[in-house]
Amino acid sequence: MTRQLQNKVAIVTGASNGIGRAIAETFAAEGAKTVLVARRADLLAEVEAGIKAKGGEALAVPADLTKEDEIGALFDRATKIYGRLDALVNNAGIATNLNTEDITLQYWNEALAINITAAFLCSRAAIRIMKAQTPQGGRIINIGSVSAKTPRPDSLPYTVTKFGLQGMTHQLTMDGRKHGIVASIIHPGATLSSFTTRRGRAKSGPGATADDYVMAGEDVAKVAVLMAALPGEVNLYEATILPNNMKSFIGRG
Ligand SMILES: NC(=O)c1ccc[n+]([C@@H]2O[C@H](COP(=O)([O-])OP(=O)(O)OC[C@H]3O[C@@H](n4cnc5c(N)ncnc54)[C@H](OP(=O)(O)O)[C@@H]3O)[C@@H](O)[C@H]2O)c1
Repeated sequence: MTRQLQNKVAIVTGASNGIGRAIAETFAAEGAKTVLVARRADLLAEVEAGIKAKGGEALAVPADLTKEDEIGALFDRATKIYGRLDALVNNAGIATNLNTEDITLQYWNEALAINITAAFLCSRAAIRIMKAQTPQGGRIINIGSVSAKTPRPDSLPYTVTKFGLQGMTHQLTMDGRKHGIVASIIHPGATLSSFTTRRGRAKSGPGATADDYVMAGEDVAKVAVLMAALPGEVNLYEATILPNNMKSFIGRG
């Protein structure tokens, strides 16, 4: 059976855990040569080994995406090894949870550095490669959040960066057209990850009440595969995926 991403080359940021890990594993299972990026080298090595044990192709490249030089080295290494780049998934991110009046400039800058500046720097690096390669083009998939539509209380930096990713996706879509580069965004609701583990949920699926359902990273990964596998002329521009009972997003019973 033909796999949906056979021989495509993809870089997935935040592949050491949660949604990014699920996207990386699913991309590799669909035949992509998958570059795994995050800071924790031990976890990345585990993901790489798991993919290879199933016959997939993966390369772990530990990097701190708040550092411009580490991003440069990552893209250099990926293209040196695989020769091209078909998809970038900007997934790495952190949550914030503080009253606005208590947010220091350092806290603000740290959230922006990973949630939005890293996505810009990675997109810039990807565009340079995608524009120059033959055949030209590729895809950039940003992981937003339902917070880009319905913010959570006391989450100013998170909300601002997720709204920012929406704008970045819009801009990249327009500007990418001339080079065959397609940008899209996925807005997940509650999904198993360090975000949910911190709130006491270590397993996906139903919780104590119907509103408490937590999606698996693989649910989000299926949407990312769908986006990445479409013909280059077609864009699934935006997708919101959430537990159907998530009343905080689609409310009133
Ligand atoms: N889970 C949800 O319910 C949910 C809902 C909506 C949107 N999202 C979005 O989904 C994305 C993934 O988050 P997650 O939920 O899967 O959380 P997670 O389990 O905490 O994963 C976050 C990933 O980002 C990486 N990361 C963080 N800072 C980094 C840095 N400076 N450099 C490189 N990598 C870094 C982490 O790896 P290292 O720590 O190893 O560096 C980790 O792999 C985020 O953008 C988040 O906003 C999540």
